[in-house]
Amino acid sequence: MTTKATLIINGTLVDAHQQVNKQLLMLDGKIAQIADKITQYPSGTQIIDAKGMHVMPGGIDVHTHFNIDVGISRSCDDFYTGTRSAACGGTTTIIDHMGFGPRGCSLGHQLEVYKEYAKDRAVIDYSFHGVIQHVDDQVLEDMQAMVEQEGISSFKLYLTYGYKLDDDSALKALTRLNELNALTAVHPENDAAIAQRRAKLIKEGKTAPKYHGVSRPLECEAEAIARMINLASLAGDAPLYIVHLSNGLGLDYIRLAKNNKQAVWSETCPQYMLLDDSLYNDIDAVKYVMSPPLRPQAELEKLWQGVIDGSIDTIATDHCSFTYADQKQAGVTDFTKCPNGMPGVETRMPLMFSEGVSKGRISPEKFVELTSFKPAKLFGLYPQKGCLLEGSDADIVIFDPEQQVTISHSMLHDNTDYTPFENYPLTGWPVMTFSRGKLVARNGEFLGTAGAGQFLRRKQFDKNRLK
Ligand code: URP
Ligand code: ZN
Ligand code: ZN
Repeated sequence: MTTKATLIINGTLVDAHQQVNKQLLMLDGKIAQIADKITQYPSGTQIIDAKGMHVMPGGIDVHTHFNIDVGISRSCDDFYTGTRSAACGGTTTIIDHMGFGPRGCSLGHQLEVYKEYAKDRAVIDYSFHGVIQHVDDQVLEDMQAMVEQEGISSFKLYLTYGYKLDDDSALKALTRLNELNALTAVHPENDAAIAQRRAKLIKEGKTAPKYHGVSRPLECEAEAIARMINLASLAGDAPLYIVHLSNGLGLDYIRLAKNNKQAVWSETCPQYMLLDDSLYNDIDAVKYVMSPPLRPQAELEKLWQGVIDGSIDTIATDHCSFTYADQKQAGVTDFTKCPNGMPGVETRMPLMFSEGVSKGRISPEKFVELTSFKPAKLFGLYPQKGCLLEGSDADIVIFDPEQQVTISHSMLHDNTDYTPFENYPLTGWPVMTFSRGKLVARNGEFLGTAGAGQFLRRKQFDKNRLK
């Protein structure tokens, strides 16, 4: 299927390095030309006047959980509703963290399952992170085919939940993935400390949703971050990616590692920068039950500092949605029964633009770096994605930096029934999203097609490219 050529004129092109007033031509799904004035283009080319607008690489959200079965529930967004929502929020690529398969399953099992979930459903391009449920000789061997044949060049391991890895397994995984030039991503929380605190809270009858946060304070996360950083060092400076960082103490350990030139990168999410743990006192506290939990107000500014000084590399969402009216209610009297996670894939780009760029905390270039360029670099998608270069995929978002919008769930395109950011005021809004040159969203109207998204085989990790 051919996509109509599109010429964008009068806009400000913004990538991670510069802003320029140039024209951009999209042809056959690629950025065909960037120039002061483009004079040659096919007849019938649609011309978009982007005066006053920022024309940027489409967002890359490297942390979603579509269609995930968390044991007590299945998240309510699949690869259609999840990617539709992403597209309407200015995101053109997602990398999903695959859920757990049957105990003992092969490393490739979940990849086959997830390819089926996404095929015919995804409206934008997608990839997956491998998930390491256990480590044995077979898993260590199978990692090679995943990296070299399937293009899965990042793997997640968990230090808590049902398939937590112990230090022995984590060290083996780090060592092997380092050999294979793949990135190890980690959900870092100290499982034993959480289990002890949970047991005590349950014994005391403290099972209301607000105790979810009490059961996993920031030291649980920070300890596991420090441990993984040291294990990665022992594994020969294995590249390590810390997901969903929520607090300043963990950030301090990351900063130390980065200062020591260790191959460590980190991600945070809008909820940890913009919402605090006072929400656990609200009647609808279950909406915010996720792990790690929301933190005290003082932590939010520390994360902003980390973003500004480069200690935090990417902003993703951890979109893992459950309905408030139904699924989240399982936790109303017992937080241990509440499916963990929140929606966010559609609000990430607008929130970060508004809170970051419009409020003057970060430049437009830094916004692109955090939401698209570094995700592409880290996860083996650059220069196909994450930049405005001739020959790159025409994945583009046009932001109106002045548009005032108040977030309401009724305007979003996910399959849940709430947003944690209801009534949040924004300055700046993604007015058009192009995926491989095709307009997939315009002013909140979804225009894409189920199944148009392509599976992305990602390149191996090159530790020197981002050190
Ligand atoms: O609570 C969360 N974050 N749920 C999704 C799974 C994970 O931990 O990333
Ligand atoms: Zn996690
Ligand atoms: Zn997650």
